[in-house]
Amino acid sequence: MILSIESSCDDSSIAITEIATKKLIYHKKISQELEHSVYGGVVPELASRLHAEALPRILAECEPWFDQLKAIAVTNEPGLGVTLIEGVTMAKALSISLNIPILPINHLKGHIYSLFIEKEAVLPITVLLVSGGHTQLIEVKSYSQMETVATTMDDSYGESFDKVAKMMALGYPGGPLIEELAHSGDAGRLSFTVPLWQSPLIAFSYSGLKNQVRLAVEANGVTAYPDIAAAFQKTATEHLLQKLKKYFKAHPPKRFAIVGGASANLYLRENVMQLLAPYKADLYLSELQYCSDNAAMIGRAALEAYALNEMQSYNNIPINPRCKL
Ligand code: KG4
Ligand code: ZN
Repeated sequence: MILSIESSCDDSSIAITEIATKKLIYHKKISQELEHSVYGGVVPELASRLHAEALPRILAECEPWFDQLKAIAVTNEPGLGVTLIEGVTMAKALSISLNIPILPINHLKGHIYSLFIEKEAVLPITVLLVSGGHTQLIEVKSYSQMETVATTMDDSYGESFDKVAKMMALGYPGGPLIEELAHSGDAGRLSFTVPLWQSPLIAFSYSGLKNQVRLAVEANGVTAYPDIAAAFQKTATEHLLQKLKKYFKAHPPKRFAIVGGASANLYLRENVMQLLAPYKADLYLSELQYCSDNAAMIGRAALEAYALNEMQSYNNIPINPRCKL
């Protein structure tokens, strides 16, 4: 079995995955959303302190499996430096005391393998990764061959929901709050310009849209919040759809997936489904419980790393907060 640890942002999570069967034996996640909510975003030092309390509490429940572990998997990149170090330190301590190696795992690969928890991977696949930290289009050929073909020039899709929710003092994380508020709004009453709509670039940008929303919030006041939320969600999503459409012209998809925390957004899911219809491409989605950060996806990715013999000694685990795929 592999014990996996995730602490790249504001979720403390540990999982145990059986190597031979890919079965998830144990999985627990303690989310810090409530603690960060008053600040409208994640406060890294607070997150780090909360991981230091939560991870050992979860780990205590895993003791019965300690003697069956072959490796400790841990997210070591990318993420918040001060929170990654909590998981990595725990992994190192376990590695030394149980005398087993470490599998350092890239968080983005974890999100991609959230598609295949307790399943065989279906590859190659084109993946849209939309989270709080990333907005990327990735061609996944295998675990070790992934190519980022488009990325954001500034903010990410999920982050823009968080920022808009903060402008409206709704709380954190903003994604589900804005999606919910948008249900009672009229997306046609206000209109925002779709980012980069005239640009031939296949890239993403959310900072300009964020500013448009800020101006609308200031000009229209609280009663317009549902309409603003609806128009924002429509425009933010339209931006993804326009760029995907452009990309698909040269690269018609056969298999397509949306992963990451923001892939839980139903408006996005429905619209991507429609976009894919003419291509007869299959759409892959993670189970809702595995969209946001969790250790089950790190454990699933670790099965691939284990098969590729990517085990490392505890003294060779770099922490790369800004690393890409
Ligand atoms: O993958 P994740 O848990 O953490 C990162 O790796 O960043 O993603 C969290 C992000 C947050 O920005 C959150 O607001 C966003 O995912 N999110 C959503 C929805 N649910 C979560 N964004 C839009 N719509 C949602 N329903
Ligand atoms: Zn994530």
